[in-house]
Amino acid sequence: MNRNTNFDRLPDRYLFKEIAVRAAAYTKQHPEHQLLRMGVGDVSLPLPGVIIDAMHQAVDELAHAETFRGYGPEEGYEWLRQAVIDNEYTPRGIDLDIEEVFISEGAGSDLGNLSELFLSHNTVAILDPSYPAYMDSSMMAGREVISLPCTIANGFIPELPKQKADIIYLCLPNNPTGTVLNRAELQRWVDYANVNKSIIIFDAAYEAYISEEDVPHSIYELEGAKQVAIEVRSFSKSAGFTAVRCGYTIVPKQTGLQAMWMRRQCTKYNGTSYVAQRAALATYTPEGKQGIEANLMYYKQTAQMIADGLRALGYDVFGGKNAPYIWCRVPQGYDSWSFFDHLLHTCQIVCTPGVGFGDAGQGFVRFSAFSNRKEVEEALKRMKTLA
Ligand code: MLT
Repeated sequence: MNRNTNFDRLPDRYLFKEIAVRAAAYTKQHPEHQLLRMGVGDVSLPLPGVIIDAMHQAVDELAHAETFRGYGPEEGYEWLRQAVIDNEYTPRGIDLDIEEVFISEGAGSDLGNLSELFLSHNTVAILDPSYPAYMDSSMMAGREVISLPCTIANGFIPELPKQKADIIYLCLPNNPTGTVLNRAELQRWVDYANVNKSIIIFDAAYEAYISEEDVPHSIYELEGAKQVAIEVRSFSKSAGFTAVRCGYTIVPKQTGLQAMWMRRQCTKYNGTSYVAQRAALATYTPEGKQGIEANLMYYKQTAQMIADGLRALGYDVFGGKNAPYIWCRVPQGYDSWSFFDHLLHTCQIVCTPGVGFGDAGQGFVRFSAFSNRKEVEEALKRMKTLA
């Protein structure tokens, strides 16, 4: 047996696992302190009643012979795939074939698994900083990575790769910096991909947080994108499904990859749970939409509160406007991890060290606005004592 030594290139622990381990160690030492969790992007609000009812009903169906069901289609039930098209794409003038929509258990796994569609000698361009799963899965596959720094100097807007990139991961609105690209800026990436025969893996998990005009919600709003882009979306951050697990991935036939993804999924994925798919369908009912909108508003206001609160304390703050993440420069004398530890030990606040998203994230930490509002208020109060 020859094990995959590419794993040796990875940090020992996945970023969010490392944070959980450090937080748990602190809690073990100081059980008297309650942690204020603003680290991983995990939602805190309960699901709207109509979604809960849909899940109860789906479970009840499984309890009776007449309505029981077993395996569903690997690519997801047609009723959910059609609802995705009707609610997410048709209103934006995007025409999709139902065979291009694949229901998933969430964005995270598809973002890594899509890598299997490409041979390992393909180069991959990754924004630095970015969601660590892109880098980790590229490393596991033994790919050469082209790093695209996003810094204060370039306004966190990456330049196009100078050399040919075969695969490009783009996350917009961006996790962790909160940056968005306008239509013209994103069109340059689509044009680059068409010229270079690249594929863009477009992570649109935070699309529901876009508040500015002229920011595309889907890459397929751009001319020529269907030839070169796969779009990955999730109900986790839009509808609070981090525990339920449901998302979807669009693989247009024009990419030449749709049949391959279908083939891969049939071999390696037995489909998303029926209960989760019924829950996802309920997000498109009028009550579902209303409930989700209210939750989104809460997180958006929390993001604003964190950004304003940190600014008032004198921090340099970015993001939070079109994304649920606030990207914050650490005070002089700290790096990302030492400030993370400082916040944990002196204020019992858990954030995410920026360097965990890439080298260019050194000197930053990220705060998540998915946290409980009271905890955010308390966190800002405690941080005042640091200033
Ligand atoms: C995060 O950046 O906190 C992640 O989005 C969590 C996840 O969805 O994997």
